[in-house]
Amino acid sequence: MDLRIEGNAALVTAGTAGLGLASAEALAGAGCDVAVCGRSSERLEDAEKRLDAAGPGEVLAIRADITNPDDIVSFVEETIDGFGRLDHVVTSAGGPPPGPFLDTDDEDWYDAYDLLVMSVVRTVRAAQQTLVADGGGTIVTITSRSVKEVIDDLVLSNAVRRAVLGLTKTLADEFAPEIRVNSVLPGAHETDRIEELIRDGVERGEYEAYDEGLGEWSAGVPLDRVGDPGELGDTVAWLSSGRASFINGVAVPVDGGSMRGI
Ligand SMILES: NC(=O)c1ccc[n+]([C@@H]2O[C@H](COP(=O)([O-])OP(=O)(O)OC[C@H]3O[C@@H](n4cnc5c(N)ncnc54)[C@H](OP(=O)(O)O)[C@@H]3O)[C@@H](O)[C@H]2O)c1
Repeated sequence: MDLRIEGNAALVTAGTAGLGLASAEALAGAGCDVAVCGRSSERLEDAEKRLDAAGPGEVLAIRADITNPDDIVSFVEETIDGFGRLDHVVTSAGGPPPGPFLDTDDEDWYDAYDLLVMSVVRTVRAAQQTLVADGGGTIVTITSRSVKEVIDDLVLSNAVRRAVLGLTKTLADEFAPEIRVNSVLPGAHETDRIEELIRDGVERGEYEAYDEGLGEWSAGVPLDRVGDPGELGDTVAWLSSGRASFINGVAVPVDGGSMRGI
């Protein structure tokens, strides 16, 4: 499907791996100029190569820590300076540490809030005027299915991410009609983050081997598997495109049907 966004400019926070990178690749594949940010030089270099190969547009891979307010502003400004415009904002993030409630202290909660919520607030604040000035645009927030159904051992994700959903829904009204704002709620996808959680499970003796852990993550998914990050990326690119032009303020689960709520 032609997404009709060729020549547009996009940025993806925390986009050097996993779901952020998959979203950036899908946007690059649709012909956008794409900027991503992250902290590790190695991941930045890898991401730049993958994005260059994904499409005909320009690529920027910029070092920025999304828990640092100045880094976010610089990332957005460098993207706008580099591409001369901005049409699509996609927010991803790292994952907060797993663990039960009693293992968390105040600092863990504030750190999770900074990483998951304030990173979105600050990115949107820095980008909004340019999105409007360039003729309107889109924002897609990548959160988690944990905003609808809590996930065992992930109290910080279960509790803190809901703020992003409230923000997304509010902005879908406040920023309309110039900017459409939507969210995607990934279920399990096989990214570095999931690999790390499974390998932790193997170390703790929860699973005998990686494949057993992966099988556990697939259990309860009607499609009987975890997702490929590209499947999430394609959904983000579609929501960002004119093909989804009347879709605003929704939270789309991309989870193989895991969520049982109606
Ligand atoms: N994968 C899943 O199945 C799944 C399901 C539901 C929700 N999610 C959520 O979706 C988000 C992305 O997950 P993922 O699986 O794609 O994770 P991932 O594979 O671990 O990738 C995380 C990306 O974020 C970057 N990052 C992390 N912390 C950052 C920071 N402070 N500043 C800038 N960049 C940062 C990482 O690069 P650097 O480390 O180099 O900075 C990397 O590019 C997470 O919030 C995760 O909890 C994932």
